[in-house]
Amino acid sequence: MPTDKIPVYFYSSKSGMVRLFAERLDRPVFDLSDRAVRRSVPDGPWVLLTPSYKTGNVNNDTIPEPIKRFLRDPITRRRLIGIMGSGNRNFGEHYQAAARTIARASGRPILLEFELQGTQWDVADAKRILAELDESAHQPTIGTSLSE
Ligand SMILES: Cc1cc2nc3c(=O)[nH]c(=O)nc-3n(C[C@H](O)[C@H](O)[C@H](O)COP(=O)(O)O)c2cc1C
Repeated sequence: MPTDKIPVYFYSSKSGMVRLFAERLDRPVFDLSDRAVRRSVPDGPWVLLTPSYKTGNVNNDTIPEPIKRFLRDPITRRRLIGIMGSGNRNFGEHYQAAARTIARASGRPILLEFELQGTQWDVADAKRILAELDESAHQPTIGTSLSE
């Protein structure tokens, strides 16, 4: 697999829906449940793929802990270029809360939102969006700014 594809870092719980989606993207994907992955720093632009989990605590904190830990590193945060979210509309106002909260805090765009493990069309959309990002990341001027 060519290494010039922007990698996707994801977290997935035991139900594994985000993992199923990630594995269909035909590009390097890294599982943030793995401690070694969580402790690494992406060497260029990367995309985050996250589910949302409403915990019911006072802050209504839905961001999975491994993602929070990974985002503690300022270089990792700087190299993040966008977010994809998996959620479930049954959660109403909390739909995609993790992806949206991270997007707001980081100033990075939500690239795609889908439900559960995603449909074949969601996978196709994700592939297209990521391929466009691959292209722009390899144009010298944009590439330089993205990887800083
Ligand atoms: C306990 C629980 C809480 C959830 N909370 C939310 C939520 O607040 N917002 C949302 O959009 N989806 C919520 N979901 C749906 C998951 O984000 C969605 O099913 C996702 O695909 C799970 O990915 P995973 O199986 O890889 O962990 C919740 C699911 C569960 C089981």
